[in-house]
Amino acid sequence: MAFTVAVIGLGYVGLPLATLFHENDFNVIGIDVDLNKMESLKKGISYLSDITDADILQLTSSEKFSYSDSFQALVGADAIVLCVPTPLRNHQYPDLSYLESAVKGMLPHLQRDQLIVLESSTFPGTTEEVLVPLVESSGFIVGKDIFLGYSPERIDPGNKDYSLENIPKVISGVTKKCLQKTELIYSKAFRKLVPVGSPRSAEMTKILENTQRLINISFINEMSQLCHQLDIDIWEVIQAASTKPYGFTPYFPGPGIGGHCIPVDPLYLKWKANLLSLETPFIDLAKKVNDNQPNYIISRTTSILKDKEHPNILLVGLTYKKDVNDVRESVSIPIFEKMIEKGWDVQYTDPFIKEYVVKGKKYQSINMTEEKISEFDVILILTDHSMMNYDDLIQHSKQILDTRNCIKETYKNVIRL
Ligand SMILES: NC(=O)c1ccc[n+]([C@@H]2O[C@H](COP(=O)([O-])OP(=O)(O)OC[C@H]3O[C@@H](n4cnc5c(N)ncnc54)[C@H](O)[C@@H]3O)[C@@H](O)[C@H]2O)c1
Repeated sequence: MAFTVAVIGLGYVGLPLATLFHENDFNVIGIDVDLNKMESLKKGISYLSDITDADILQLTSSEKFSYSDSFQALVGADAIVLCVPTPLRNHQYPDLSYLESAVKGMLPHLQRDQLIVLESSTFPGTTEEVLVPLVESSGFIVGKDIFLGYSPERIDPGNKDYSLENIPKVISGVTKKCLQKTELIYSKAFRKLVPVGSPRSAEMTKILENTQRLINISFINEMSQLCHQLDIDIWEVIQAASTKPYGFTPYFPGPGIGGHCIPVDPLYLKWKANLLSLETPFIDLAKKVNDNQPNYIISRTTSILKDKEHPNILLVGLTYKKDVNDVRESVSIPIFEKMIEKGWDVQYTDPFIKEYVVKGKKYQSINMTEEKISEFDVILILTDHSMMNYDDLIQHSKQILDTRNCIKETYKNVIRL
């Protein structure tokens, strides 16, 4: 008999996961409190860049998929998978309010023998220290009446090389039986499971992966600033260093690190470490370098503009990375804001973001005609979306600052980081 899985939170993580379970013959119940998402599903319109309208229609027309904004829909689920946001409070501290509210919503509907798996990224200890007491307030005992695990989501939106089922899935359980239950259900959807000894280990695995990226990308951004001063091409250096057959992993400079994960997760760990009076100097330094990167991009733009007082700037790309429609923590936004504060005339183009409000003013993504391109004093490439026409940009623009190295050849109007 097919298992029934309820996925709570149908965003960038939850909707692809629900689709994967569905493709593997599970009955799937999707739950989300965002009524706009419910409406989109009803109309067969995708709200994610990696999922097409046709995918949505295929899912929602299936008898094996249902969706609701009510937790009552949980009845009959063998497993409940939580994919709700774990952002920062005041740009610094873990905000578990979405998780707590989702768990409180599901408590009255829990049933004996159900498995609950948390997939949201969070600090080590969340499952055992926060979730176990919350779940046990239902009267069920974890490991005996109800089962609880943690499995970090490793999806990389926009990345066509790795499908969800092919990314090895780290799993864990609060007790041995919790792990066995997680293994039983997840093995039906994922090719390779990587069981670890405790939810703490699994939580830390995800944070380690993302902290490594924050630190290394911040480091390479520091190296790129240094190379610029020394008149050395950092991109050439990275390419040359990458020919070493062992021991060197390339990371690439850019306008700064954004998104819901890499700039956020290390601060979850820092918060936990600080609770224990432990310091995290690597994380602190990487954060400092990353926070300063928008200022560096602006200083590079200023030096291209020379003494022009009211320049006309075009930002190419608002999203935090290529080929996604996600602007959370995107570094394009502070760059946009800081340029407006300087009194510059700023516009943007982004095929994924039709309009966006910056400092209370609504901007619309501009159409890139030849004439329009030639109007700007500097065009900054902040996100290297695949569908942008870079040839047109090169041909008609006065100056380009390419922060992503997406224009590989040398042109006299293109400057790289
Ligand atoms: N986006 C990524 O690339 C990515 C990758 C790996 C891990 N993660 C982690 O996965 C988690 C989810 O991230 P996301 O990008 O999918 O976020 P998201 O905002 O795209 O989706 C979360 C969904 O949860 C819903 N939600 C919020 N509170 C709820 C509640 N109480 N009950 C039901 N639904 C609720 C929201 O409406 C939203 O649709 C986060 O912890 C994130 O760090 C994200």
